[in-house]
Formats: sequence, structure tokens, C-alpha cells
Amino acid sequence: MYINFWYPAEWSEKLTDQPVKARMLGQDFVLFRDSNGNAHCLSDTCVHRGGSLAAGKLVNGCVQCPYHGWQFDGHGVCQRIPSLGPDARIPGRARVDSYPVEEHYGIVFAFLGDLPADERPPIMGIPEYGQPGWRATSQERWAECDYRRQVENALDPAHNEFVHPTHGFSGSRDDYRVPELTIEEDQWSSGFLTTYYAPPLKDEKMKAASGRSEDAVIEAGSHHFGPSVIRTKIHPTAEVFIHQHAYKLPVDEAHVRTFLIQTRNFLPDEGSDARFRERNNVVADQDAEVLAELHPFFSPETNTHEFMLPADQAVVRYREKLSEWQARGWRIDVDAVNEQRGRAAFAIPSPARREKPGGWVIDTVPLMRGAAAAEDAAEAAG
Ligand code: FES
Ligand SMILES: [Fe+2]
Repeated sequence: MYINFWYPAEWSEKLTDQPVKARMLGQDFVLFRDSNGNAHCLSDTCVHRGGSLAAGKLVNGCVQCPYHGWQFDGHGVCQRIPSLGPDARIPGRARVDSYPVEEHYGIVFAFLGDLPADERPPIMGIPEYGQPGWRATSQERWAECDYRRQVENALDPAHNEFVHPTHGFSGSRDDYRVPELTIEEDQWSSGFLTTYYAPPLKDEKMKAASGRSEDAVIEAGSHHFGPSVIRTKIHPTAEVFIHQHAYKLPVDEAHVRTFLIQTRNFLPDEGSDARFRERNNVVADQDAEVLAELHPFFSPETNTHEFMLPADQAVVRYREKLSEWQARGWRIDVDAVNEQRGRAAFAIPSPARREKPGGWVIDTVPLMRGAAAAEDAAEAAG
């Protein structure tokens, strides 16, 4: 799991008049709206005696710890310590980490890291969202799975033929093969669009709306954005598009919550939403069944114990991207965190820690030593 990316923390509509707990990257956070309706994300651990702020309540736009009533504002700064009396000066160390928040597409996104604004990777956008001719639906999935295994599944064009009976011919055609992939990439993403030979649609309404009634070559493919976001494009014909935007939240190393926004430019009526959601669940269940049995459970640390083919090159490229982010020192040392479970509380470093490195009560989460950090150390050692 990696710091310094935007993660989907919660659906916007879930933040009302109570603090909400969110577990992300194996750590706990509290989400709430201040008096102006602005969403905030703070580290959940109260710096007094470790109360869970999410178990408290909202008072004067602050979240109030349930244990001794300290009140923290949206910047994580303590505004009131009741036991000191009404006129007390609040010590500067009475603060918790606060993370940048943005709301898009009905999702509250939190930037879990300490990069300054101009260095942050962007949130993957949905250009067609809200545009005329497009309809968007939301749905959620939960899985006991390594999020990387799910991303790799999406970047794998050879599984559809065997895992999804409606995407191909289940290996029954002699002329089946995966076309050569062209990987498209930029600093934060990589992936491909390719072609699949697919059987006719079974759903009569979709068949009629898409205009595709025979076996056909369809264009489809996926790109990852950062470690845990996927955009999949499915173009059943040259005019009919389905785009899936899976904002995956690594709840911890073994659980994934997916916030899925799907856009389509056909069957624009609300009444058709349910059949798309249902269809997505059927396909996701087919993937989940296979992913649940993978050995090992976690995506391997090297490619040497898997036999990679040209169709796996998007998976390989994704793993290389993860290594690059690890080399920047952004990967959480999950083993070190787990060794301290129940004995130490950690916080993901927030941008304020860069501006003011001293005086924080809670330690930052252990990070794996990146190659960049190792090079710096070697240089410093001369
Ligand atoms: S533990 Fe939060 S106020 Fe004491
Ligand atoms: Fe799949």
C-alpha cells in the first residue's frame, strides 16, 4: 500500500451530522462535515489518550473526542480542551493529521500523504460525467483480496475468454488468441485498449440498444491510475460506449472496497440502471471467484515465480510502476505496522508535517526504504 495518492474515503451522501470512521491503508480516519458543509478527513487517533474521534460527535463544526471532549477542527487543530477551563491556551502539539479532501462524482476523496499540492498525482477524472447523452451510475463492492490482484485482473486481457462466458467463447474457438498489446502510459498510469471477438449480447434490450446482434470484434481495455484506480473502456460498437471507473480503496492489505462509477452513452433512462449494476456484479463475482483462490494470496514481490507471456505485459508494467513508487519511499511497511499492532498507533504523514516537522504526538506509519532514500543515504555517507 502506498501513501501520496488520492483514495476514495466514503460516498459524499454518507457524511451528514455524525463523524464517520474510514479505514484506509490499514489505518483509521475520521470523516466529517464542518458547519459550512465542507468535508474533512483527520487521523482518527486522539493525541490525548488515543480516543477514536469517529466515535465522538460534531460540536461547533469540530469533531469532539468521546473520551475527554477535546475538539479538533477540520485542520486537525485542537480548539478546546474542556479540562483546562474555558480560557485556556491550547498547546500547539494538540493536533492530529488532516488530509486534503475533494469531492467528485459523489465520492469524498482524501489525499493520504504529505506531498505539497503541486506535486500530488491527480484524481482520475471522468470527462463525460454529467455531459449530455451520458448516464452515470454508482455502486460498491467489497472483497477479501489484495487490491493489486484486482488491478492485475483488470489489466489482463487473456482472462476474459475463460472467466467471463459472455465476453468470449470459453476457449471453444480454434482461432482464439490475444492480439499484441500496445501499452499506453504516462507518469501515473499505464494500460491498453485492444480488441476481443465476442458473442452476441444475451440481454435483448441491450442487444437492441447497442445494435450488435452477431458475433463481433469489440474494442475494450483498461488502464490503472496510481496503485488502485482502474478505468475500463468497453466499446461494443463504434458508437456505443460503457466506461467503468473503479476507485479502489485498499482498506488494509487484505480487503478492498471499490467505489464504481459507470458511464454509458446508450439506454440513458434511469430504469435501465439496475440491469447495468446487476451485470457488473455478475462479472465482478466471476473475477472474485478466481481471485479468491490465487496462490499466493498477495501479489508476488518478484515476477520470477510466475511465467509471464506477452499478454501479461500490462501486469508487468503495473508492477514496475509500483516499484517506482516504492523507490520514492511511498510504500507502507505493512510487516512493521503489523508487528506493532495493538502496541503503537500510527498516522499517515499529512502535508502539515512537511511544513512543521516537529511537535507531533503520533509517529508516522513505517515506510519501506525506497531506492531513492537508499541512494541519498549512500551519497550522504560519501
Ligand atoms: S482521549 Fe481524546 S480527549 Fe482524551
Ligand atoms: Fe474480469
